[in-house]
Amino acid sequence: MVSGKPGSWAYCEEFLPEDDILLRARERAAELGCVPVQPGVGAALATYAAALNAKAVVEIGTGTGVSSLYVLRSMDPAGVLTTIDVEQEHIRAAKEAFSEAGIRPQRARTITGRALDVLPRLADSSYDMVILDADKNEYHDYLAQALRVLRPGGAVVIGNTLLHDRVADPANRDEKTQSIRELNKTVRDNPELIPAMLPSGDGLLVGIKRR
Ligand SMILES: C[S@@+](CC[C@H](N)C(=O)[O-])C[C@H]1O[C@@H](n2cnc3c(N)ncnc32)[C@H](O)[C@@H]1O
Repeated sequence: MVSGKPGSWAYCEEFLPEDDILLRARERAAELGCVPVQPGVGAALATYAAALNAKAVVEIGTGTGVSSLYVLRSMDPAGVLTTIDVEQEHIRAAKEAFSEAGIRPQRARTITGRALDVLPRLADSSYDMVILDADKNEYHDYLAQALRVLRPGGAVVIGNTLLHDRVADPANRDEKTQSIRELNKTVRDNPELIPAMLPSGDGLLVGIKRR
């Protein structure tokens, strides 16, 4: 580890303070045993949503709505976030956060269900951004669906791609780590994507679909 890096990483994660609404959504996540995106990831999602002028975003893994809030607040003000979670209780908590943030209900299309049952129902080439933050065992299938539903120029954004420092360490050869390594390579080597691996949070892999 290069000296000073942990301090820089903490500085980046704490760079933008979160408001009470985000902090309350984090408290609900702790109560429900759900792990929200870290602030640096939230900020990165917000900047992508704004840069893309996103009108339609898909999120796989609503949790209690932390990442959703970052996106809803920065995408087109009339845009719609379609967010999927298998846990009704998590969706209920997220809706509380959206309501506290004054997000109109029409802007957050929440779908309770398993991602791989819901994703095939979404239209081809219709979304500006797809965020993957649910069951890591299913990421390869989420990615295939994400590439189908993304419009040219859109972004797929994948969380936890460093898997608590396990991915970068070649000594870790367990199944989950290998699977995320494979996924990272798939994105890196896909000629249809312009990739970037960001060290925010637990790793954020971004791929922009070429026009
Ligand atoms: C890491 S949390 C998401 C955190 C959220 N993005 C945030 O920042 O607040 C992962 C979520 O994925 C959901 N999940 C797990 N497996 C799923 C599946 N197969 N389909 C849909 N949601 C799933 C969990 O219920 C959990 O709420």
